[in-house]
Amino acid sequence: MKNPSTPSVVISGTGLFQPAQVISNAELVASYNAYADLQNAAHADEIAAGARAALVHSSVEFIEKASGIKQRYVLDKAGVLDPTRMKPRFAPRPDAELSLMAQIAVDAAKKAMAAAGKQGSDIDGVLCAAANMQRAYPAMACEIQAAIGAVGYGFDMNVACSSATFAIEQAANAVKSGSAKCVLVVNPEITSAHLEWRDRDCHFIFGDVCTAVIVEAADTATSSDQWEVIGTKLATQFSNNIRNNAGFLNRCEDTDPDARDKTFMQEGRKVFKEVVPMAAAHIEQHLHTLGFEPTQVRRYWLHQANLGMNQLVLKRLVGREVGDADANDLAPIILSEYANTASAGSIIAFHEHHADLKRGDLGVICSFGAGYSIGSVVLRRL
Ligand code: COA
Repeated sequence: MKNPSTPSVVISGTGLFQPAQVISNAELVASYNAYADLQNAAHADEIAAGARAALVHSSVEFIEKASGIKQRYVLDKAGVLDPTRMKPRFAPRPDAELSLMAQIAVDAAKKAMAAAGKQGSDIDGVLCAAANMQRAYPAMACEIQAAIGAVGYGFDMNVACSSATFAIEQAANAVKSGSAKCVLVVNPEITSAHLEWRDRDCHFIFGDVCTAVIVEAADTATSSDQWEVIGTKLATQFSNNIRNNAGFLNRCEDTDPDARDKTFMQEGRKVFKEVVPMAAAHIEQHLHTLGFEPTQVRRYWLHQANLGMNQLVLKRLVGREVGDADANDLAPIILSEYANTASAGSIIAFHEHHADLKRGDLGVICSFGAGYSIGSVVLRRL
């Protein structure tokens, strides 16, 4: 039962930063294959002696069939596609200059603030929530807070692909408890820097973006586009199936900072099998605690990692078959254009696919990913 003195919380604006550069699957595969050929030539003797396996070519057909991804946005295309480099190239910036993560965060934040009709001084909480942080400290959120002229406090948080939904719950709770009035949740995901572009099993998975969401009390909201946060539900269950060992202890362990385990690694098939039932059950239980059935939900804005995963989650929830005409209307797919953008994916889906819903319509944002972590946010259009 809702306490009448607890303020209703709304999402009153969203924003999206999208890099100008795009890599198609054909470009990505051509670059990977050139890299594989170079490696195979460089290690021809070891390969011939059976001491080393030859690298096998990647294929556009596999990528599209296995994942549904057709392209990805990146901050630096040239570095990623250079077969002698295979990672983005970012110029180091002096401390006095806005850092790269903060720069894309500020872009998305300003768009969300404009959508919600907020000035920097209206915002008294900044949560920078993403799968990776550019540095240890000061918190990215403090830099973003200063750059947009916000007041109050800011902090960083990381729950990998569930960072955004977990942050929305923290923001909603801060507004409910009165510790903040208007919170910016921002998700700068520079996934191109943690992806191992030299690994054929996963080189196609990620793209760069930043999303931003304004969470505030209903009685301060003036936006014409408001979504009441009816409930949030978070869950985690430890798994090593998605892991990245990069961290501040690396240099003390005398390990190679470029070793395979210092970038994104996954057991993709296990993740697929284990996370689909967890996510569907999580959403169903969340809806039941709020008195709703999954069939009453007008739209699901699901985590965007794999087309097949989303189709299976939807099938478990509402019985829609893969390929049903209304499946994309119920759970829009944005990963064909953006690829997996870690925590930003379900927020992009919400940002791009909510305008057609009517007053009173129910929607669910749900993320799932490393941890494992699952976060759901149930919304009603006001
Ligand atoms: N090009 C061509 N073939 C490839 C390939 C590529 N880029 N990558 C892998 N293959 C091959 C494999 O070698 C394997 O061949 P084999 O059957 O001869 O052994 C075959 O394709 C199947 O590989 P597999 O890794 O089992 O593919 P998959 O069907 O599981 O699809 C993913 C891979 C990653 C797309 C899929 O598992 C996935 O999306 N899982 C969920 C990931 C997820 O949500 N992660 C969260 C990240 S935040």
